[in-house]
Amino acid sequence: MIDLRDHKPFASGGNRHCYRHPLEPELCVKIMRRGRIAELRGRAPWYKGLLSDRRFDDNEREVEGYAQPALRNAGTSSPVWQHLPRWYGIQETSEGPGAVSQLIVDSDGQPAPTLEDYLKIHGLDAPIQGALARFSDWLRETRVLTKNILPHNLVVRSEDGQPELYLIDGLGSASFLPLAELFDHFSRRYIERRILRMWKRIHWEVSDKSLTWKEAERRRQ
Ligand SMILES: Nc1ncnc2c1ncn2[C@@H]1O[C@H](COP(=O)(O)OP(=O)(O)OP(=O)(O)O)[C@@H](O)[C@H]1O
Ligand SMILES: [Mg+2]
Repeated sequence: MIDLRDHKPFASGGNRHCYRHPLEPELCVKIMRRGRIAELRGRAPWYKGLLSDRRFDDNEREVEGYAQPALRNAGTSSPVWQHLPRWYGIQETSEGPGAVSQLIVDSDGQPAPTLEDYLKIHGLDAPIQGALARFSDWLRETRVLTKNILPHNLVVRSEDGQPELYLIDGLGSASFLPLAELFDHFSRRYIERRILRMWKRIHWEVSDKSLTWKEAERRRQ
């Protein structure tokens, strides 16, 4: 059992708190925010309210995401790990079930900044455009399925003097993507759409944000 009492998260998203593992500092432990599952369930349309609590649990979604065909049997030297934290499953903690994965750190040993942070400081500069192109090619080659790719769900680590991106949240889950999982043609199309949307969101992120993301999203490319 991982004891997280007296420990503070190093970062938090809308749904989960992220801790550094107290005994293994190279690991990240994610815990659902207290009361969040009930809150999400309450906000969902009535027919989704019929689903079990597990459907609203991001840790459960992550288990499914890592169980997708492209990742299920990937060996330790597989290229799938070039842009993804390694996965160590759900482990019991003092704060409830924890999703344990590799903590992506920068050269100073601190958790790597998000792409959202990077864009605020550097904008869409040439090094990060290169990193985004390599990340997109990796999606195409490995066929890793993701949900919409958001800048706060990518972190940036410098490797051999150039930035590289890691997707730390938002792997696709099998139950939502049955066609993409089954058929080559659907998975290619699905991945190209995720890449286009990722760029659209990034261009919005570095814009003056005079449009809301919802408005920008509706506009044609
Ligand atoms: N493996 C990791 N390595 C380094 N930093 C991480 C890692 N996982 C998460 N983080 C940091 O913690 C933050 C929150 O994590 P995460 O996105 O998994 O939480 P979430 O609540 O599920 O997110 P969302 O708000 O997108 O639903 C990230 O934005 C990132 O800064
Ligand atoms: Mg997130």
